[in-house]
Amino acid sequence: MAAPKLSLLASLSSPPKFHFHWTRILCGNPTHSSLFLRNATTITKINKKKKKQRNGKGGIVTAKPESLAEKLKKRTRSDREFDKEQAMVYGGTATHVPVMLGEVLEVFSSFSSSSSSSPLRSFVDCTLGAAGHSSAIIQAHPELELYVGMDVDPIAHEKAQARIRSLCGDSSHLKAHTFMRNFKNIKSVLREVDEELLSSGVDGILMDLGMSSMQVNNAERGFSVLANGPLDMRMDPQASLTAEDILNSWPDTEVGRILREYGEESNWRSLQNKIVKARLFGGLHSTGELVDLIRKTTPRTRGGRQGWIKTATRAFQALRIAVNDELKTLEDSLYACFDCLTPGGRLAVISFHSLEDRIVKQTFLDIINSNGEDESGEGGGKDLRNIRNDNDEKEAWIKQMVQGWNGTILTKRPITPSEEEERLNRRSRSAKLRVIQKG
Ligand SMILES: C[S@@+](CC[C@H](N)C(=O)[O-])C[C@H]1O[C@@H](n2cnc3c(N)ncnc32)[C@H](O)[C@@H]1O
Repeated sequence: MAAPKLSLLASLSSPPKFHFHWTRILCGNPTHSSLFLRNATTITKINKKKKKQRNGKGGIVTAKPESLAEKLKKRTRSDREFDKEQAMVYGGTATHVPVMLGEVLEVFSSFSSSSSSSPLRSFVDCTLGAAGHSSAIIQAHPELELYVGMDVDPIAHEKAQARIRSLCGDSSHLKAHTFMRNFKNIKSVLREVDEELLSSGVDGILMDLGMSSMQVNNAERGFSVLANGPLDMRMDPQASLTAEDILNSWPDTEVGRILREYGEESNWRSLQNKIVKARLFGGLHSTGELVDLIRKTTPRTRGGRQGWIKTATRAFQALRIAVNDELKTLEDSLYACFDCLTPGGRLAVISFHSLEDRIVKQTFLDIINSNGEDESGEGGGKDLRNIRNDNDEKEAWIKQMVQGWNGTILTKRPITPSEEEERLNRRSRSAKLRVIQKG
């Protein structure tokens, strides 16, 4: 089924009329000690597969390096034509260009008041950002009755709130709510909107993970390798833990662990040693100082400038994941989001690095198979690997599905952006879209 074409002119000349209701709530802060434990549990699960491949002496993981061809086989490149105009209408260089927008619209276009399928009555955007995806969904679904948007970042929340408010106007049947909250609290957020929602469920949920361009481009947030700023990296500025705390006060083994596990950095031990040694001279207090240390630690033989930039990118990724407890939050939230779906409802997740994608893939399998007895994580009592290829009933974008007890994974392989989108929006290059449907 083709995604609805959205016309900026049409939407401007006849803005939908919506009823509006706003809510704003602050987030709680995770404690540092619980972060150690929870992060360790998550990564243990991620590495389950790798551990199976250990050699007989209990030694090193000996997985064969994946060739590019093997990697490509494991995903499905989107065959949609990239709609540049649409991406610019819902994004913008000053804010954030929504990734795989056409594909996301297509996922939810199976709900439509104008077709024989059921209408999209309720939608939750867990990661508002600049509200690019949200704005497009709201405009493509005039039948929408309930919209809920969340972002843990106050700047993103404020911008998105204003955008959705102006899009919706001031009177209609659409009740729109935005919350400055972590998506791990989706159940309590929906309960606040309407007690009944948790039992009735919502039709669509979107998670577009990671950072927005607004966050990366703001040096003060400390996310950018290329701009000097404080070692912060908090998505939620009210959270207590910063990257500076980790670098200057976490035990050396924990610093090494996050570089190895969250950054997948092979040179982690030498970096860990240099970071701990820097504490003797006052510690690290800016992203520039950290980048300098990485540049000096990365051997010249490892690819010159590209080499240390890659290492720095991996170290920044590791710190960001640890600061925001991203992996455990993601895993828990996927289960919570699925619980919040109505039968037939869909959860779409866009991830940007392999650790996230592995969690989405594995958690989706666990979700659809949670009644099964097989502990392998690959299948249960019922034939989980009932991969459907029949083209008769399914939508054009769906290539292969995996059916389980509780739902269907609509993307056996993740969908990745079209070549054109990758070319025009560098940030989209690592994006992977996975979709699960309840019931
Ligand atoms: C990639 S951006 C989303 C962009 C958005 N889809 C758009 O089209 O503009 C990701 C957003 O998710 C937010 N975020 C990340 N982790 C979050 C969490 N655990 N809870 C809520 N929001 C989160 C970030 O603050 C950021 O604004």
